Amino acid sequence: MKLYVIVTLCVLFTITQQISLSEKCVCEFAQSGKTFPHDKLERVQDAASDCNSNLMPQKTIELESLLLGLDRRLPVLEKDVSMLEKEDDGELYGVLSLYVIENEMTEIKELIDKLNSTSLEQEHVTATTTQQLQDLREEMQELETFDTMQVVKRQQANQRLKRDLEQCKNGLHPTHQPTKPPHGTCPYGQFLNISEPRVYTAGEYPGSYKYGAWGRDPKPEAGKESWYWRVILTSSNRYAHYVRFYSTLSSLIIGVSIPGNVKIHPSNPTTNTIQGPNNVLYGGALYYNCYNKDAVCRFSLTSKTVTTLDLPKGTRYNAKGNFCNLDECYQCTDLDLATDESGVWVVYTTTQDFGNLVLSKLEEGEPPVLGKTWRTSVYKQAVTNTFMACGILYATRYVNQEVEEIFYSFNPVTGQERFNIGIFMKKLAPNIQALNYSPVDQMLHAYCDSYMVSYKVQFELLDNQS
Ligand SMILES: *[C@@H]1O[C@H](CO)[C@@H](O)[C@H](O)[C@H]1NC(C)=O
Ligand SMILES: *[C@@H]1O[C@H](CO)[C@@H](O)[C@H](O)[C@H]1NC(C)=O
Repeated sequence: MKLYVIVTLCVLFTITQQISLSEKCVCEFAQSGKTFPHDKLERVQDAASDCNSNLMPQKTIELESLLLGLDRRLPVLEKDVSMLEKEDDGELYGVLSLYVIENEMTEIKELIDKLNSTSLEQEHVTATTTQQLQDLREEMQELETFDTMQVVKRQQANQRLKRDLEQCKNGLHPTHQPTKPPHGTCPYGQFLNISEPRVYTAGEYPGSYKYGAWGRDPKPEAGKESWYWRVILTSSNRYAHYVRFYSTLSSLIIGVSIPGNVKIHPSNPTTNTIQGPNNVLYGGALYYNCYNKDAVCRFSLTSKTVTTLDLPKGTRYNAKGNFCNLDECYQCTDLDLATDESGVWVVYTTTQDFGNLVLSKLEEGEPPVLGKTWRTSVYKQAVTNTFMACGILYATRYVNQEVEEIFYSFNPVTGQERFNIGIFMKKLAPNIQALNYSPVDQMLHAYCDSYMVSYKVQFELLDNQS
């Protein structure tokens, strides 16, 4: 056996020797076409991604938000002017109304200036992007000439064929609409979908204060119907000690806070400080998680007093029952206050519920009283935020930086839970620190990494054109 191997090796050796002694074999490679310009392809790719980032949806939404602000502002002005016409006694009332109108005009002028500069900027972006696209198109056409084997062309033809085939199949077997479950107690019917972002603004402190909340009081005091509120967690992204007001949506967008702040306490943090971002304003009072307590605080804007409602024993607080995404939790989101058509709710979790979401109705009053409580089977840390809309609890989860999914719902009337809602929200910043529904105009207000974004909720039986 060994001998045999040695003999074979010897033979191999001699053969190799002979080959290396004989003439060398040269392989000639003749290239018929031009070399493929990889560097050019890379340049085209870079230019395309540049182009994409120029066309970020944020930019058009900013313009739309401003227009929306103006749209809401003008009827107010019109109303005040007609009031002036009626009231003008040449005396005090006339002077006061004139003063109000003057303020409004100043605000509208600021809005128009901002609109002007934003649209100029947009025009510029559009012009440069159009040129870039034209250049890209030419370069791609040039690159296509390298497709000598017609690979791309055939792929395109295949795609067309596949699409036709799909259409053909669908034509033969029309898809059946799934039967809709009854909508319970909501007069608007089913929650169908959510719009693209309608408002998107950096507001008064662009890029600052990652944690906060904002919205509208669903049951405002007289004269404050058009007010918007904002709470920013100014201390360690955890605590706040005042609510800031804006007389209209456009003031919020352009960042002019009149009438300004209403303070809960001069220092921060201390007893009754706001802890965590998921607060709501309802009936002229701010409902929030009070500092260092498993309790809901109610701060009345008129009496400037705080009353407290203790939650059940075992309620998780001080960042022990947070909302989370896959990688991190949102600090101090133990208690999520929510508003809908029926008033104020609180979403939280307890040790005895093993970290699952618990929902309680709050009954108004000073102090508010804990109403009925429901337990769910969804784990709070698997949820990024929740909101109530028309009597139903909805929970969201993080899909990626651009998309959030409303995946879960719980109907407290029927006790039905659904994990397959599958409504996707387009995000303009990766994280949602607060989410709250406004029953006044069916808008969902989100506070996202210091941006304020809102979406229109589309219900089955509501006209959602506005
Ligand atoms: C818009 O801005 C440009 C340049 O700043 C200015 O020339 C123009 O008058 C402005 N238009 C209005 C309506 O304010
Ligand atoms: C839901 O709304 C989004 C826009 O926000 C839209 O792209 C999507 O197609 C809608 N989905 C359905 C099922 O209508």
